[in-house]
Amino acid sequence: PGLAVLAKRAGLQYFGTAIDNVVLNNTRYVSIAHNRSEFDQVTPANGQKFVHIEPQRGVFNWTLANQVIKPAKKARQSVRCHNFIWHTQAPEWLEFGNWTKKELVSIMENHIKVEARYFYDTCFSWDVVNESFNDDGTFRETFWYKTLGKEYIELAFKFARKYTSPRTTLYYNDYGIEKVNNKSLAIAELVKDFIKRDIPIDGVGLQGHFRMATAPKYEEISASIAQFNKLGVETAITELDVRIELPDSPEKKAKQAEGYANAVKACVDADDCVGVTVWDFWDPVSWVPYTFPGWGNACLLDDDFNKKPAYYAVSDVL
Ligand code: XIL
Repeated sequence: PGLAVLAKRAGLQYFGTAIDNVVLNNTRYVSIAHNRSEFDQVTPANGQKFVHIEPQRGVFNWTLANQVIKPAKKARQSVRCHNFIWHTQAPEWLEFGNWTKKELVSIMENHIKVEARYFYDTCFSWDVVNESFNDDGTFRETFWYKTLGKEYIELAFKFARKYTSPRTTLYYNDYGIEKVNNKSLAIAELVKDFIKRDIPIDGVGLQGHFRMATAPKYEEISASIAQFNKLGVETAITELDVRIELPDSPEKKAKQAEGYANAVKACVDADDCVGVTVWDFWDPVSWVPYTFPGWGNACLLDDDFNKKPAYYAVSDVL
């Protein structure tokens, strides 16, 4: 049985993968990506980001998102949507627009409104805000923050609740929060404050971009998941990958497998961790080599689509 079949049996709602547009002409890749016994959930890796969705103010383009989402729906895979508000992959007109508060709020509302409505019946979950915090737990000084202050986060959640389906779960999503640390504590405070003030939020996404040698331990991931679950919000591992410092070796692959398995097992064993998504499953199309020079081979399948030790380790803990 594939990973998604095993994940369901283990009590998760889904086991999914991100899919990027660059590889959609590779039939071997596509047949695995949309095989719902392996992956029953899909996240568009890029197509729903601001720069692609609203490349000019008020001009919306669904092409890239639909290239991933339409085949996913056809294959009866569920779709996690990613993301409404982020400081990266924002169009220049937006980032360098010198907006007043009022203008930027109205741009935010319109963006969320149009995109949420377009994908109303598509997204069972939305990453509403992505990566708002620095590692030390302070707010990242993005163009959203500079103009709107920290209130931009709650505004985004209020708009998302207003325009998405009531069944859609709304997530705050970030990396480096898979342990209890200054950043994850700050996010837990944000969640607590939202709940106290009735700002809608349903979940926290732990991205799970790990380095092979320093991937968090099972207990560390469990503790971080628990700190959110005990506040009453769900969690998910939303972008799991474990990168290797090249050259690769059998020892490194074994260590990578541990990193994957610990994260998946922590989710399976948690009270309210609903699913795991890998940030692509095939080494050649991972974002890692482009973003972290000298690093690579971060996925479950190697260049020839062979299952790596990481694949078997994940399937063992499911
Ligand atoms: C990455 C994509 O995989 C790349 O193709 C793109 O060039 C940059 O973004 N955290 C996130 C994701 O939330 O959106 C990022 O995806 C990886 C880090």
